[in-house]
Amino acid sequence: MVSKNQALKRIQELTSMIHHHNFRYYVLDDPEISDSNYDRLFRELQDLENRFPDLKLTDSPTQRVGEKPAEQFLKIRHYSPMLSLSNALTESEFMAFDERAHRLLEKSPSEPIEYFTELKFDGLSVNLIYEKGKLVRAATRGDGQIGEDITRNILTIGSVPRHLRDTEPPKLLEVRGEVILPLTDFDQLNQQQSKQGLKLFSNPRNAAAGSIRQLDPTITASRPLAIFCYGIGKNEGFHFYTLEDCQNQLSHWGFPVHSLRKKCLGPNPVFQFYEKIASLRPTLPFEIDGIVVKMNRIHEIDQAGFLSRSPRGMIAFKYPPRQETTTVEDIIIQVGRTGALTPVAILSPVLVGGAIVSRATLHNPSEIERKDIRIGDRVIIQRAGDVIPEVASVLKNLRTGKEKKFQFPNQCPSCQKKVNHKEDGVIARCLNRDCIAQLKERIRHLFSKNALNIEELGEKTVEQLVDQGLIKNYSDVYKLNKNQLITLEGFAEKSSDKLLKSIKKARTPELYRLIFGLGIRHIGEKSAKNLAHFFGSLDPLFKAHEDDLIKVPEVGTEMAKSLKIYFSDPHHRSELQALLKWIHPQSPIRNRGGGAGKLAGKTIALTGTLPSFSRTDMVQLIEENGGRVSSSVSKKTDFLIAGQEAGNKLDQANQLGVKILGEQDFLKLLQ
Ligand code: IVH
Repeated sequence: MVSKNQALKRIQELTSMIHHHNFRYYVLDDPEISDSNYDRLFRELQDLENRFPDLKLTDSPTQRVGEKPAEQFLKIRHYSPMLSLSNALTESEFMAFDERAHRLLEKSPSEPIEYFTELKFDGLSVNLIYEKGKLVRAATRGDGQIGEDITRNILTIGSVPRHLRDTEPPKLLEVRGEVILPLTDFDQLNQQQSKQGLKLFSNPRNAAAGSIRQLDPTITASRPLAIFCYGIGKNEGFHFYTLEDCQNQLSHWGFPVHSLRKKCLGPNPVFQFYEKIASLRPTLPFEIDGIVVKMNRIHEIDQAGFLSRSPRGMIAFKYPPRQETTTVEDIIIQVGRTGALTPVAILSPVLVGGAIVSRATLHNPSEIERKDIRIGDRVIIQRAGDVIPEVASVLKNLRTGKEKKFQFPNQCPSCQKKVNHKEDGVIARCLNRDCIAQLKERIRHLFSKNALNIEELGEKTVEQLVDQGLIKNYSDVYKLNKNQLITLEGFAEKSSDKLLKSIKKARTPELYRLIFGLGIRHIGEKSAKNLAHFFGSLDPLFKAHEDDLIKVPEVGTEMAKSLKIYFSDPHHRSELQALLKWIHPQSPIRNRGGGAGKLAGKTIALTGTLPSFSRTDMVQLIEENGGRVSSSVSKKTDFLIAGQEAGNKLDQANQLGVKILGEQDFLKLLQ
């Protein structure tokens, strides 16, 4: 139990901490903590204020939106306030919102509420003001009532309409949207910042905010910002019944409105939309941090009412944070299968995006220098989809002076041979092909899930087998016997039999699995599949010249060079020949563009949910028929298979005149 005195002390502490972080986030665009840490402080304060309402301070950050506009900008008062949203982090928190919504609308629990769901863009919210259809001013959200004048900066974003596409536009219109910086542009911007010795942005949101809140619009113009519009503030002259109508009208007027939006009747379709967007999130070219769920009928939003900082009829349904704050405990060097030496940060464990993270890749020696990462530093780490966690930024103003700079070693930590720094100037390498650490990684990779797939040959087992001298090359795996295995730690009769059985089973892998498993530089699973399809067997692949190799879809000159180097090396050839005495790779059912398979030579893209095929099954069906699946639509795409809730690819196909097929049309094509 917290006493009233303790609660007051903590409320004062949290209030002042949150004010400080608001200033760093909203005014300086340079936060000191991750969003999730901020959300935790905010929720703790909300919770204490709910339990001790009389202790709530008059300037409590829970009662206001954002921060006052910064001094250096001209101020603009919004016609209608720009509020914030409350959050749900779990399904049950969303259900609590839905129950409350029923009470507020005086609906019976059996009557589902009509919601409108859309992406929660992670950028900076802006207000665009149109008078008689002409853009006259633009402002940041500021404190919700008064924002900063960013009119000249907004005009640098090409997709912001200068005039509404309407012969009878409303007299006055406020359009609400989010300015974002696409991920690839964010990476490029940070590279540029680093080259010029300038501060790096810790995430695309801060980069977008820092770019639009510039006093010099030429700087904004040099940053490829984008915008998505999602709402309307004051509007004189138009009446809307639903938010859905409102967004359709925005689109009609020429505003960029994202196509991933949906009307949902009750919580279940909301959860489906949430899951669907979660799976699309890693493929989106910009950051989102959740979905926004809004009552669709505007009179119901009004009926539900407003708190001082947020409407009661809307909620942000957030995804687990992908950024977290933690400490770098140490930096170690990992030796990869091609000899690349990767520095890795050992972290105080934290939960990021639903998984405990205790390591983050530091990529290469120059990345450590570029970001100035030191042992003992507080850092923001991030994890995007399945990508290995990395350090997004260092919180340099939290340094105590005790942090230690990392000295990159001149010797390989495994075999002690001299490290080669020269090759491409970025990656440090151990060039010793007898290096034990490299051998372990090569073996692990060859037998990993997406290659020859022997589940029992995990990291620990490979480590033991190599350390005991039982495996010196690939083919040794197939020579293992029970007497050898049973002597290993953790191995008994049953587990030895199991491993031997799995090894025996892995003797007829699909060809692409072997090609991928060889760990040839730049050759991932997709290119291995394309190579297997194109050549059909190993022999022609061995003999292919670089000119032949670049004819394979998605194989460029760098990959072709790397394949040539690999297959011309006598050491690799003899190791592979020895392996081929034990395994018999299976040629793909269809090969080469011009030959077998109804879809031979065809490039096909997929979008939306198909009625009876999962995406994986459809990809398999296409590949089995000799076709190739591409992740995007271009002029080279032969056709697009589109299902329900098709995404951007459908628009692109329409624009490029690419043929569009439904599942049934496609199946007919195969008959
Ligand atoms: S509606 C009453 N829709 O999220 C506020 N906001 O946390 C209505 N945001 O300030 C906001 N995507 O900057 C709305 N599809 C979306 C959004 C969105 C991002 C931002 C917006 C807002 C913040 C609230």
